[in-house]
Amino acid sequence: MLYVDGKWVGAGEAAVDPEDRGYNFGDGVYEVVRIYKGKLFQWDAHIERMERSAKEIQMKMPWSAQELLDIAKQLMEKNGITAQDDATLYMQVSRGNSPRVHDIPGDVKPVLMGFARKKDRPLADHKKGLKAALIEDIRWLRCDIKSISLLGAVMVKQYAKDTGAQDAILHRDGIITECSAANLFAVKNGELYTHPANNLILKGITRDVVIELATKNGLTVHEKPFDTKFLLQADEIFLTSTTAEVMPVISVDGQAIADGLVGSVTQKLQTLFEQHIEEAVLV
Ligand code: PDD
Repeated sequence: MLYVDGKWVGAGEAAVDPEDRGYNFGDGVYEVVRIYKGKLFQWDAHIERMERSAKEIQMKMPWSAQELLDIAKQLMEKNGITAQDDATLYMQVSRGNSPRVHDIPGDVKPVLMGFARKKDRPLADHKKGLKAALIEDIRWLRCDIKSISLLGAVMVKQYAKDTGAQDAILHRDGIITECSAANLFAVKNGELYTHPANNLILKGITRDVVIELATKNGLTVHEKPFDTKFLLQADEIFLTSTTAEVMPVISVDGQAIADGLVGSVTQKLQTLFEQHIEEAVLV
């Protein structure tokens, strides 16, 4: 079952208005939330970020955080997600239906759509790591907004796949930004480096959790730009996202990172993240 604009509909039964601005313009925002054992992880942070994204595109969200939580809980229940299941929840808000003009219509009503599905954690890849390709960051200059306009992300991911890699590490004029749908960290001499949270990256919720866990456990984190040369000479690289968690990257463009094995700092952060999932209060 999906939630579409106030109604519950079966898969394959949902209809999108041809002039939904999300459909025509990619005019909308979204969130992907992790569900561990039937409970939502970092819910408040996701709702806060969604409200920020909406504000940045001059869209007023008509739902309270509690209303969104009720819908999220119902999505889990109606899709058979129980205390045994790991899953993901997708929620998007399009600006709404309106005759097609580029500027923002005054009287448009946002459309909320959501679905939830069971999804296992990528535990095998956590041990093996991924192969990445270095790809030019061709996206727009407001990557801080979690916009449903994702053509840039689609293209860079496919460019990476076309080279035989599993994900794209993006660079803008030689400066590493993030991945197609994840943040990127490099480890050098036991310290962490990641791009600052400005307009060129999405401020990932997993990124924030990892920075907090690292700092609390005595690791130094530098939120500052680094270049492709630094990346290739790193001791370790990993990416972070809601679905990937702490995911090692073992090679870039076919070149092994250090010895090409999952590094010890990455492993330590994976363990800390695992403990955090166990101990954090999920809703
Ligand atoms: N992607 N950067 C980009 C461009 C992203 O799309 C994402 C998330 C992240 C990581 O953010 P977080 O840790 O909050 O998930 C960074 C989601 C998972 C997606 O589009 O599927």
